[in-house]
Amino acid sequence: MQRRRRHCCLAKMTWGCKRSLLRSHVVALLSLASLSATVLFLCQQDWLPGRAGLRENPVAYTVQQHGFRPRGEGNHSSLRSLWRETGYVPPRPHVNLSSHQAEPLPPAAELSLEDSLSTNSSLQGEMGVGGKLAAQPYRYILNEPHRCRDASPFLVLLIAAEPSQADARSAIRQTWGNESVAAGLDFVRLFLLGMGSAQPDAYPQSAIEDESRQYHDIIQQEYLDTYYNLTIKTLMGMNWVATHCPQASYVMKTDSDMFVNTEYLIQKLLKPDVPPKRNYFTGYLMRGYAPNRNKDSKWYMPSELYSSERYPIFCSGTGYVFSGDLAEKIYQASLSIRRLHLEDVYVGICLAKLRIDPAPPPNEFLFNHWRVSYSSCKYSHLITSHQFQPTELIKYWNHLQSNKHNACVNLAKEKSTRYRHRRLHSDRLS
Ligand SMILES: *[C@@H]1O[C@H](CO)[C@@H](O)[C@H](O)[C@H]1NC(C)=O
Ligand SMILES: *[C@@H]1O[C@H](CO)[C@@H](O)[C@H](O)[C@H]1NC(C)=O
Ligand SMILES: *[C@@H]1O[C@H](CO)[C@@H](O)[C@H](O)[C@H]1NC(C)=O
Ligand SMILES: *[C@@H]1O[C@H](CO)[C@@H](O)[C@H](O)[C@H]1NC(C)=O
Ligand SMILES: *[C@@H]1O[C@H](CO)[C@@H](O)[C@H](O)[C@H]1NC(C)=O
Repeated sequence: MQRRRRHCCLAKMTWGCKRSLLRSHVVALLSLASLSATVLFLCQQDWLPGRAGLRENPVAYTVQQHGFRPRGEGNHSSLRSLWRETGYVPPRPHVNLSSHQAEPLPPAAELSLEDSLSTNSSLQGEMGVGGKLAAQPYRYILNEPHRCRDASPFLVLLIAAEPSQADARSAIRQTWGNESVAAGLDFVRLFLLGMGSAQPDAYPQSAIEDESRQYHDIIQQEYLDTYYNLTIKTLMGMNWVATHCPQASYVMKTDSDMFVNTEYLIQKLLKPDVPPKRNYFTGYLMRGYAPNRNKDSKWYMPSELYSSERYPIFCSGTGYVFSGDLAEKIYQASLSIRRLHLEDVYVGICLAKLRIDPAPPPNEFLFNHWRVSYSSCKYSHLITSHQFQPTELIKYWNHLQSNKHNACVNLAKEKSTRYRHRRLHSDRLS
C-alpha cells in the first residue's frame, strides 16, 4: 500500500518539477530537496483509487502549480487566493471541463427533451413522475411567510430534510446553518419537509411543531416525504423563495447530510461586495451523463420515462447555488415540464428549457458530492462535502472553527494522524 502510494506520487510529481530540475546544479539540488519534501508531503494525502486523488486536495494542486513552499513560511493569503490566481482547472477524469463555456445540449437531449418524458401512467404512480405541478403550491402545514419581510437576505439556504431527522437539523443549526456564521451577512436557513408516514411509530408531528415554534426554520407542506418526491420538495422550495423572498440575492439547495462551508460560499464564491449575478446557477457539474438503466440503482431511470441517451448538463443535487431570480423562472418552467423523480436531473431539464447553462465553479474542489476526507486545510477551501452523520458534523465543524486562522499550518500533523486512523479503520468511505 505504502509502496503503491509512493510510486503514484512520484509519477505525479515528475512533471511538476521537470522544469526546475533542468536549470543548474545548484537549483537542481534545491529542487531535489523540495522534491523529496513534496513527495513526503504528497504521499500523506489520501490517494483514493479511481475518482478522488487529485481532485480531492487543493493543497496538492498548490504544490504542483506553484512549487513547494516549506511549511511555516507558507503564505496563507496566497493559498486562499489559489483559485483566483490562475483560473487553472485541473483535468477531470469523467467529465470534459476543458471549455469554460457550458456545452450546448447534446443533440439527442435537445431534440427529445419533451418527447423523452413519458406519460406512462403506471410508472407515474410508482415513481411520482409524469404529472405536472399545479401553479399553486402544496398546502402549507408549517410556513414562515415573514422570514424575509424586513430584510433582503443575501442567501437563502434550502435544506431538504425528512421529518424524522431532528438530529440532523439540530446539528446543522449548531454548525454551518447557524445564521451568525457569516458576520453581518443575512442568510436565512430553512428546512424543507413533507409529511411523514401515518404509521403509529412515525416521528410525531407535534415534535416538529415544537421545533418549528422554537427555531422558525421549518417549511412543511402536504406532500408525502419520500425519495421519489424530492423533485416536488425542491420545486416547493423554489416556489417559496419566489413567493416569500424574491429579493434574495442567492439561494442554495442542499441536503441534511451535507457539510457546507457557508462562510466560504458567501465570502469567496458569491462575494457580497459585488452586485449579485442573475441567471446564475452553479454546483458540481454533471455533464454528458447517461440515464442509469439498472433497475437496482438508486438513480434508475426507465427508458419509458426518459428515452434520450443523455441528460442535459445538470448540477449534483447534493448542493447547488443559484441567483434569486432563477427561483421563479425554474418554478415557472417546471409547470410545463412533466416531472421526473431525479430532482437534480429535472432541474437541469428546466434550465435547458430556459436556455441557461450552469456555470462551472471557479475551481474543481469547491463542490463535492462525495465525502472529502477531513483536514482543516481542505475543509476551509471547499463548499460542500457529502455523507455526514450529525455527530460528525459537529465534531469536524468545531475542529475547523478552532483552527480557522491556521487551518493549513498543521497539515502534516493532521495527515499523519489521519493516515494512522485510516489504516486502523480501513477505507470505509471509498
Ligand atoms: C502573502 O501574499 C499576499 C498577496 O499575495 C501579500 O500581500 C502578503 O504581503 C504576503 N504575506 C507574506 C507574509 O509574505
Ligand atoms: C472537451 O471539450 C472541448 C471543447 O468543447 C473539445 O475541444 C475537446 O475535444 C473535448 N475533449 C474530450 C476528451 O472530449
Ligand atoms: C408502462 O410501463 C410499464 C412498466 O415499465 C410497462 O409494463 C407498460 O407496458 C408501459 N405502458 C405503456 C402504455 O407504455
Ligand atoms: C450560533 O452561533 C452563536 C455564536 O457563536 C451562538 O451563540 C449560538 O448559540 C449558535 N446557535 C446555535 C443554535 O447553536
Ligand atoms: C408524493 O406526494 C404525493 C402527495 O402527497 C403522493 O400522493 C404521492 O404518492 C407521493 N409520491 C411518491 C412517489 O411517494
